[in-house]
Amino acid sequence: MKASSPIVLLTGGSSGIGAATARLLCQRGMTVYSASRSGGGEAVSSPAGRIIPVSMDVNDSAAVQAVIQRILQEQGRLDAVVCNAGNGIAGAVEDTSVEEARYQFETCFYGAVRTIDACLPVFRAQGGGRIVTVSSVAAVIPIPFQAYYSSVKAALHMLTRAISLEVKPFGIQCCCVLPGDTKTGFTKARKFAQASQDPASPYYKTMTESVGKMEKDEQNGMAPEVIGKAICRQLGRRRMKLTVTPRLDYRAIGILARLLPERLMMWIVGLLYS
Ligand SMILES: NC(=O)c1ccc[n+]([C@@H]2O[C@H](COP(=O)([O-])OP(=O)(O)OC[C@H]3O[C@@H](n4cnc5c(N)ncnc54)[C@H](OP(=O)(O)O)[C@@H]3O)[C@@H](O)[C@H]2O)c1
Repeated sequence: MKASSPIVLLTGGSSGIGAATARLLCQRGMTVYSASRSGGGEAVSSPAGRIIPVSMDVNDSAAVQAVIQRILQEQGRLDAVVCNAGNGIAGAVEDTSVEEARYQFETCFYGAVRTIDACLPVFRAQGGGRIVTVSSVAAVIPIPFQAYYSSVKAALHMLTRAISLEVKPFGIQCCCVLPGDTKTGFTKARKFAQASQDPASPYYKTMTESVGKMEKDEQNGMAPEVIGKAICRQLGRRRMKLTVTPRLDYRAIGILARLLPERLMMWIVGLLYS
């Protein structure tokens, strides 16, 4: 980014990947408006950079607009947005109601859409800006019992790639980051579809074992700083990559998912998780 002290709006900044990203961006001299519903996370004002925690629910258009107006009033510009806020819901598709599926799409997809939509007029008026979205390797690997999470992350990945073509003429760049298992508050915040918690569900045993294994993998996963560094690196580049999968092993998984015959790939995923 060209600005001397870039101004970044980061969603989901109070915890996990967002909190680590805010710290790293701040250390690199950026001013980070770190948004979450709670408005939590550390406030930093250092000679290098700043972290300004703000309360903003990405599902509330008025709140998103208010934060962007505040940033413009205080800073006169906005250089980048990192759409990281997210949550997860687990359970077999048959055990998940449409309302519960909508919950998954509300924050992870429409929350990002609301935030991006609100930033785009600002970026166009400035003649440039950067959009980073935080998807998941679950976007390229179909995860059983987290089918809606996989679906929403695939949708966010596709949205980022499609939008990049629309906004390129305005000098706006896009990047989608696909983290693998990362040790954050995500595991504890995960919701389960109500019917999936009924031991009488035909999926109950497999779902419980499978999601239990995934949760163990998350809690033994990468430090959130690994993802934060990848986001910082992209924001520091003259030209951002469109898709970034941090860490070699997850990058290899992504490549294999594209190259392997689908039947073989599904067999491997099934062996691991169902
Ligand atoms: N952890 C993993 O293994 C992993 C792997 C791949 C991708 N990801 C993705 O990484 C992103 C960050 O997750 P994390 O692992 O760092 O989880 P986390 O520790 O639970 O952090 C989630 C953040 O999102 C915020 N948030 C949730 N709903 C929000 C809303 N409606 N409006 C504004 N902020 C909201 C939370 O703050 P409040 O509760 O205060 O709002 C929190 O700051 C998510 O998109 C997740 O899907 C995580």
